[in-house]
Amino acid sequence: MSNSINYVSVPEQLDFAGDIFPKIVVNDGSVKTVDQAIEFIKANQTELENSLAQSGSLLFRGFPVDSAEKFDAFSASFGYPNFTYQESLSNAVRINFTERVFTANEAPKDVEIYLHHEMAQTPISPSKLFFFCLASSDIGGATPLCRSDKLFAALREKAPKLAQDFADKGLKYKTYMPGENDANSGQGRSWKDTLSVNSKQQAEQKLHELGYTWEWLEDGQLKAITPVLPAVIKLDDGAEIFYNQLIAAYMGWKGVRENPSIAITFGDDSHIPVDGLELVVELSKEFTFDLAWQDGDVAIVDNYRAMHGRRSYSGDRKRQVLVALAAGTK
Ligand SMILES: [Fe+2]
Repeated sequence: MSNSINYVSVPEQLDFAGDIFPKIVVNDGSVKTVDQAIEFIKANQTELENSLAQSGSLLFRGFPVDSAEKFDAFSASFGYPNFTYQESLSNAVRINFTERVFTANEAPKDVEIYLHHEMAQTPISPSKLFFFCLASSDIGGATPLCRSDKLFAALREKAPKLAQDFADKGLKYKTYMPGENDANSGQGRSWKDTLSVNSKQQAEQKLHELGYTWEWLEDGQLKAITPVLPAVIKLDDGAEIFYNQLIAAYMGWKGVRENPSIAITFGDDSHIPVDGLELVVELSKEFTFDLAWQDGDVAIVDNYRAMHGRRSYSGDRKRQVLVALAAGTK
């Protein structure tokens, strides 16, 4: 087995003055088993991690990963602490395959999941995401990946006052957690599951600890408002990251496009201007790579450098993209 890394280029890759996004590592044919893949990762871990930190995303193509169990072993080989779906405050409905591996999002195929940093609308978020394509869809279903540092730098140029407002004021999110799981929604996870509790009293205790305010609605939903969360964070190398869920919330959450303040405001409760949100959406396109999945692909996304989403898809083939999350700091 050869132990050197074989990077390839594809025409759709983004190139920011030599900063390639994402980096793509292809099996040169010498890695034939998942054990050999793990050996390959361990032998090259420092270089792979440097590539990931710089680029924000690393795609492994052609490696012998063809089941949730093998993906579990492949992703575990990096040695990162596990970030479990149970413990998270994720609002998406997902299904666990192994303890660390679960479905990316059970939302219907015609629903687009817009760009976001994973769980940036909650106080607890993972540092890295591993995606694995068990089965690609016939048409569509790419995972868009967006360089959030480039996006925020562009926003600083185009709309400096707005960019500064995001940095200074932070954000608050209002979320509505249903009484029961609703797999037909991108945010359909019930309040009991989201908060890992069994009663209203426990839910209130948990929300209180996290600094949320809340209200119980007549239809059984729980309306929860986050404490002020950052809209922008700074990495050790000085890069500013547009670390939030604004695009996903504005474009995808029900009723938000018509009236953003029902779900998102600045941290001081003031309204975020609609033309500012439109500008962010527009700018993000320039820094987005659509990862068109091939069966067996594994991608790592640095949740502090890159946003991700899910394009809608169609066709008979059941798209199965699985996820494992790593805890840790930026
Ligand atoms: Fe996500």
